[in-house]
Amino acid sequence: MTTTDLGLVHRFEPGTAERGRERAPLLLLHGTGGDESDLLPLGRMVAPGATLLSPRGPVLENGMPRFFRRLAEGVFDEADLHRRAHELADFVAAARAAYGIGAPVALGFSNGANIAAATMLLRPETFAGAALLRPMLPFAHAEAGADLAGRPVLMLSGALDPIVPEASAAGLADLLARSGAAVEHRRLPAGHGLSQADVTLVQAWLARGSVPAAA
Ligand code: MLT
Repeated sequence: MTTTDLGLVHRFEPGTAERGRERAPLLLLHGTGGDESDLLPLGRMVAPGATLLSPRGPVLENGMPRFFRRLAEGVFDEADLHRRAHELADFVAAARAAYGIGAPVALGFSNGANIAAATMLLRPETFAGAALLRPMLPFAHAEAGADLAGRPVLMLSGALDPIVPEASAAGLADLLARSGAAVEHRRLPAGHGLSQADVTLVQAWLARGSVPAAA
C-alpha cells in the first residue's frame, strides 16, 4: 500500500524471513520516471524475505518523478541535490523509528543510485551499505571526508552506457573508497538499462552477507 506519511510518498513491505534469518532492509530508489512500485519486484528477487522500503522521488521533470532536479542530462542542480539528499536521510531516519527497522542497504538505479551516492557522502550514517546500479559522480567537486568506514558498496556500470561517462563512475568509486567504503566496482557489457547480470550480481553480493542484518 502506498502512504504519504513520513515526508515522502512510499511503500513499505515488512520482511517475511523467520526469526534469526532476517536480512538487512532494502531502501529501493527508482530511476527517472519510475515510482515507489517500480523496484519492488527487483527487491523481492535479490533479497527474498527482506523488508522493503520504497519512496517516490519528490521532484517532477515533465511529469516524471525524480529524486532531485537537473539542469540537463548529467548536469545536476547541486543545491537541490544537497537539499534532497538530506530530505531522503531524514525520511530514512523517520521510517526506521516508525517501522522499527535497522539501517537499510540502498538499492538504487540511475537517478536513484545518484541520490543514494549523494546521501552517503552527506549523511554517511544513513545506509548500512549500497548497491548502486549505473551511478555517476553526484557532485562535480566532492572531497573525500565522509566517514564510510567499512560500508560495503557494490557499483555496477555499463560499458556501453550512453548516459554515464566512464570517468564519472570511476571517480565515484574512487571517492567512496577514499572515504573508507569497501567498494566493489564492476563494468558489465551493458548499456544504461539493467540486465540479468545486474540481478545476479546484486543477489550474490547481498547473499555473501557483506551487510549485517542488524546494522
Ligand atoms: C540523473 O539525472 O540522475 C542521471 O542522468 C540518470 C538519469 O536519471 O537519467
